[in-house]
Formats: sequence, C-alpha cells, structure tokens
Amino acid sequence: MSINEDKLNELLGKVVTEMGAAANGPLITVGDTLGLYKALSEADALTSDELAAKTNTTERYVREWLSAQAASGYVEYNAEQDKFCMTEEQTAVFGDSKSPVCMTGVFYAITSLYQDEPKLVEAFKSGEGISWGDHSTCLFCGTEKFFSPSYEGNLVSSWLPSLDGVVDKLKNGAKVADIGCGHAASTIIMAKAFPNSQFIGIDYHEVSIQQAVERAKEAGVTNVSFKVDTAKDYPDKDFDFIAFFDCLHDMGDPVGACAHAKQALKSDGSCMIVEPFANDSLKDNLNPVGRAFYAFSTQLCVPCSLNQEVGLSLGAQAGEKRLKETILAGGFDHFNRAAETPFNLILEAK
Ligand SMILES: C[S@@+](CC[C@H](N)C(=O)[O-])C[C@H]1O[C@@H](n2cnc3c(N)ncnc32)[C@H](O)[C@@H]1O
Repeated sequence: MSINEDKLNELLGKVVTEMGAAANGPLITVGDTLGLYKALSEADALTSDELAAKTNTTERYVREWLSAQAASGYVEYNAEQDKFCMTEEQTAVFGDSKSPVCMTGVFYAITSLYQDEPKLVEAFKSGEGISWGDHSTCLFCGTEKFFSPSYEGNLVSSWLPSLDGVVDKLKNGAKVADIGCGHAASTIIMAKAFPNSQFIGIDYHEVSIQQAVERAKEAGVTNVSFKVDTAKDYPDKDFDFIAFFDCLHDMGDPVGACAHAKQALKSDGSCMIVEPFANDSLKDNLNPVGRAFYAFSTQLCVPCSLNQEVGLSLGAQAGEKRLKETILAGGFDHFNRAAETPFNLILEAK
C-alpha cells in the first residue's frame, strides 16, 4: 500500500489547524481573565501599547497575544495603522460574557482536561471512574461559564414555555428541585424569574454547592436553598417540577435518579431533562458538535458515571432513544422532546 500524497497533505493541513486551536486555547482564557477581549471590543481600534495600558498588562506579551488572535481570526488587524479591533461577531463570541453565544467559558473546562490527562491514562488502564470532584477546579467554573450564556438565553424564554403548564405553576408559586445543579447557574436564573416559587439545588459535589451558595448570595436571591446529596438520596418530596441540567448522563444510576425524582414529585408534577444534543447513532453524530461532546464525554461524563454505583455510563451522546428508555425505566409514563438547540435536547417526563 502506498501513501496517497493528496490525502496525506489534506490530513496534515487539518492537523496544523488543530495544532493552532489546541495551542491557542490557553490564550483564550488569558484574554478573558485579563479583560483583553472586553477592553478591545469596547474600543474602536487599539495598538498593542494602548490595549496593554488599558488592561494594566505588559505590551510585549499583549503584542504577541494580539498576533495569535489575529492569526486565529478572533480579532481583526489593520496593517496600515498597526491597530487591532473586534467585529460585532467576535465581540459576541469572546468579548461579551452575557452574550448567548459567548464561548470563552468552555476553554476553562478544556484547561482541566489537559491538567487531568494523567488521571485519564490511569482510568483507561484500570477501568475505574473519576469523580466529578476529582478534576481540577477550573472544570467547575468552566462548566458554569460555558453553560450560563445558553441558560440565560434559552431557559426562561423558550425551554420552560415548551413544557406543559410549567410556567403557570412557576408564576403562581411552585416547589422546584434542580438536581446536579453544580454552581447553580440554572437554579438562580429560575429563582430570579419566578419569585413566588421556592427552589432547591442539589448536587453530590460539596465544593460546587459551597460555590452555589455564594452565587445565590451575590445574585441576591432569597427563594433558593442548597443541599449536598445524591440524585437518589435527597429526602425532600412534593415537588411540582424537577429539572436536570446536563447531568443525568453523568450519573452512575440515571434510572435510579429518575425513579427517585418520580416519587419526589406531586402526582401532577413533571421533569425537564436537559441533555447535550445528539442523534441516536454514532454515524449521525460524526460532526463538529458530536466531536466536541464525545471528547468531553470520554474525559468527564463516562468517568463520572463509572465512579458511581451501577456505572451505566450513558455518555454525553446518548441520544433521545436511549434517554427515553432510561427515563421510562425510572417509572415515568410520558416522555417527549419539548425543544432543542444545536447544543441541547430539552426532554419532558411526567
Ligand atoms: C456537567 S455538570 C452540570 C452542572 C449544572 N447542572 C450545570 O448545568 O451547570 C454535572 C453535575 O452533576 C453532578 N452529579 C453527577 N452525579 C451526580 C449524582 N449522582 N447526584 C448528584 N449530582 C451528581 C456533578 O457534581 C456536576 O455538578
């Protein structure tokens, strides 16, 4: 067999692009942490000297950072003026943390993947899981920063209204649980939008719950409380609504978590299960979104599940068919896909 030069060059070209993406990842978190994107996006156009002065940073580093950003297509470079600027689109993705398409957060989570690679090597050999809490701490903030813009943009305006009768209950005053709430981005958004309702965020990761308490204080919401517990063990009952945001597939026993939710709901209560978007078969997930989610799944979701009892390890690309089987096996009678985005499936169970 001989190597096809064209195919080889095509593959190498792709890998050079990937090399640039992988090497530039830390520069995205640096730009976000130091406010470089924000300062640049708020100005018309800046030299590296001007951006460094505005952000209290060092010009030589900023000049190199700007060059890498321009080569990535994340900022624009005007060679005649030797100045840099950001378009509206670049600002939406990198410069505005409140934008629904802000993508900087995910790169903090990706930082943790590189830091935790030695643990994954061992897990591949031993078959053991890795607990969510055993990852580097930037994963927890990164997950919050990655998901928050989408929750801000979709949860109250489209996901909750897609469910049968839930918004009316929340307006009138409902008892709600947010299971696997992490830093509680979703819990706090709902609590702010529905002040007559009471929310409890539950997560088995104590450090995340401590952060959730802080976030609720900062947000000034008083209709939330938090508890460290697993999805199968919380004793609270009589909920009108229970939500799972991007966590059911991380659980060792998602069937058990659904069964527990079912018995914790009032007879007319319902569940919303937000999961990563996926089609039902691998061949239909071989696309950019599937690629990113299979990578997170291998490094975070499957190890998290394997670390728990049962260890079903649905993975982040389980797809609607498997999720439906799981949720119905937990005792729910009714299941439907209520909404979707390019990144999420919004499932309803009653
Ligand atoms: C991908 S994070 C999502 C966090 C949060 N729901 C969000 O959307 O930002 C998954 C969360 O599920 C939690 N988790 C995993 N297994 C759990 C279990 N069995 N019981 C409770 N929480 C669990 C983890 O601690 C983690 O906070």
